[in-house]
Amino acid sequence: MQIADFTLERYFARWEFAVRHVLCASDVEPVGLAELLALADDDSRRRWDSLRLGYTESLGLPALRAEIAGLCPGLTADDIIVFAGAEEGVFLCMHALIGKGDHAVVAWPAYQSLHEVARSAGGSVTLVPLDQRDWSLDVDAVAAAMRPNTKVIVVNSPHSPTGAQLAPEQLHRLVALAEQHGAFLFSDEVYRFLEHDAPPLPPAATLSPRGVSLGVMSKAFGLAGLRIGWLALRDAPLRARIASLKDYTTICNSAPSEILALAALRAKDALLARTREIVSVNLSILDGFFARNAGRFSWVRPRASSVGFPKLIGHDVDDFAARLVEREGVLILPASQFGYPGNHFRLGFGRRDMPEALGALERFAKTG
Ligand SMILES: Cc1ncc(COP(=O)(O)O)c(C=O)c1O
Repeated sequence: MQIADFTLERYFARWEFAVRHVLCASDVEPVGLAELLALADDDSRRRWDSLRLGYTESLGLPALRAEIAGLCPGLTADDIIVFAGAEEGVFLCMHALIGKGDHAVVAWPAYQSLHEVARSAGGSVTLVPLDQRDWSLDVDAVAAAMRPNTKVIVVNSPHSPTGAQLAPEQLHRLVALAEQHGAFLFSDEVYRFLEHDAPPLPPAATLSPRGVSLGVMSKAFGLAGLRIGWLALRDAPLRARIASLKDYTTICNSAPSEILALAALRAKDALLARTREIVSVNLSILDGFFARNAGRFSWVRPRASSVGFPKLIGHDVDDFAARLVEREGVLILPASQFGYPGNHFRLGFGRRDMPEALGALERFAKTG
């Protein structure tokens, strides 16, 4: 396997823990262990207190799989596989779907693994660019990119880095396209439950046996450190292939993380209310920032997710980001980290230090 460096993750490896403020984080303010345990129901608390640290069931703790299935109407625990983060789910699903001579159609810009893993597995990839005016996806362009050897269409909604959300009818059309071509629709839904200004979408896996939904505890739940993600899918042969590939990566999941994820999903209303509060305060602060700085930055206001993709006006964004981090210790993520041309950058608004980080950015933009 010849796989390119994951540019964005290499950038985070360099900077994430060396700066004062990560203003491009995609996760929501991390939840503390004590805070989470205080929310745990009796059963999760009992499991936590009596936990034995042995190997766990490869497909995931049955109670956790059932809880995740509860987020996907009509699906059961059998339709769920739990992984070490969403990233393992992407890696294994792409390897299960794509081999030499196969083709993938991927909406773009995208989190790099969503196209790079397919390419490294021997597939060819057609990237379908989002429309910069509103970051919408042209489903006709996806249809035009389909080939007889297309095995998967890949979308991400809510979307990183733009904060766009597919319209429900677009999702239905994408599902139909995948079905017509005997392909799968891989739907990265890791930013689900972060819809501020757009209708939530049904998980793709609930719409068709050809739909595969990717979920995670990292974003809306504020629990990235658990490294718990999942795939929901109804196609039994594909599930079996993914399950057998998992024997070559993690084999099974972290026992403590599974119990904590179970507790968190059972306390989802409280955790999502906490998230909504952080995100809505930050979004209104961002509205003021972009109104005050209209000559320096433009943006399409995100309709979902915890990130947006504004554009810097009048300076090269890579140079700006390099000087900003050196002088203010504030990290932004230039479009180049997505291999995307131009002067956009990713800005995250899930963290509690966002107002302070934004203040530093504003000062720097005026003087730097
Ligand atoms: C669109 C998208 N998919 C998948 C992932 C991977 O999630 P995790 O790091 O929690 O495994 C990320 C992480 O930032 C992401 O932004």
